[in-house]
Amino acid sequence: MNNRKREGINIDEREFSDLDELIESIVERIKKEEREIYTERTLKEAYNPKNVGELNNPDGAARITGPCGDTMQIHLQLEGDRIIDSKFITDGCGASTACGSVVTEMVRGKTIEEAFMVEDTDVLSVLDGLPEANVHCALLAANTLRAALEDYKKNNKSNKEVIKEGGGDEGMKLCIPTLGTGGLEDLVSEHFGRAPTFTVVDMANSEVKVVENTGEHFGGVGNTPELVAGAGAEIMLCSGLGPRAISMFEQLGIEVYVGASGTVQDAINAFQAGELLEASDANACKEHLH
Ligand code: FES
Repeated sequence: MNNRKREGINIDEREFSDLDELIESIVERIKKEEREIYTERTLKEAYNPKNVGELNNPDGAARITGPCGDTMQIHLQLEGDRIIDSKFITDGCGASTACGSVVTEMVRGKTIEEAFMVEDTDVLSVLDGLPEANVHCALLAANTLRAALEDYKKNNKSNKEVIKEGGGDEGMKLCIPTLGTGGLEDLVSEHFGRAPTFTVVDMANSEVKVVENTGEHFGGVGNTPELVAGAGAEIMLCSGLGPRAISMFEQLGIEVYVGASGTVQDAINAFQAGELLEASDANACKEHLH
C-alpha cells in the first residue's frame, strides 16, 4: 500500500517534471525568437520598463492612439521650466512599452524646449532600432510626449502663445477632410488631398457646411489648401499631411493639427481636449507630399 502510494507520488513528480521541462523549453524558444527580432536593449526595457504609471496632478498630460489602435499616455511634472518626473502607460505591444520607458527617461531633467527636440528617431537609436513593423511604436511615444508638452504649454499661463485670444477655438471655423456628406457623423478621410469632401464647422454657432473637394486630385483646378481657405476655415484638423501642404497652409494663415480620426465630432473633441498635434515638419507624412 505504502509502496503503491510512493509509486503514485513518483509518477506525479515525473509528470510535473516533464511539464516543467516542456514549459521551460517553450519559454526558451520564445526568448530565442524574441532575441532574433528585438535588440537586447529593447527586451531589457520591455521586460523592466521604467516610469510606468500615472502622476496625481500632472502639469502636462496626453493620451494618443497610434495607427495600430494602441494607446499611450504620458504624464509630466515640472519644476520651473524643467521636467522633474514623467510617467507612461500603454496598452500596446512590448516595443511600445520599451519606447514609453525610453522616452520618459530621456526627458527627465530636460527643459520644455529641450524635450520638444526629442523625436522618434532618438528613441529608436537608444533601442538600437526596432523591426519595421514596430517603428510606429517609437512614433507613438514621441507624439504622445509632444502632446503632453503642448498640454503643459496650454495650461501654463506664461506660454500664452499657444492660446488664441478669446480663449481658444470659440468662434473659429474648423475644417476636417471627410469621406462624405454626413456632417458631424461623417468619417475623417485619411488622405487629406484626396478627401472627397471637407466639413467646415463654425464653432461660434455650430453651423456645419460640407464643401466638395474640387482640387486638382479630383480633376478640378487649384490646390486643396486654397479650397480650404476659400471655405473660411481657420483651423484644419486632419489625420496627417505632407510637408508641402503644411507650408501652404502656413502661408494661408491656417493652423493645422494632425492625428484626427473617427468621426468629425471625434476630431473636434480630440482637438478641444488638446490631443491633436500641431503639424510640423517633424510629424509630416514622409510618404506623400500632398
Ligand atoms: Fe501598437 Fe506597438 S504600439 S504595435
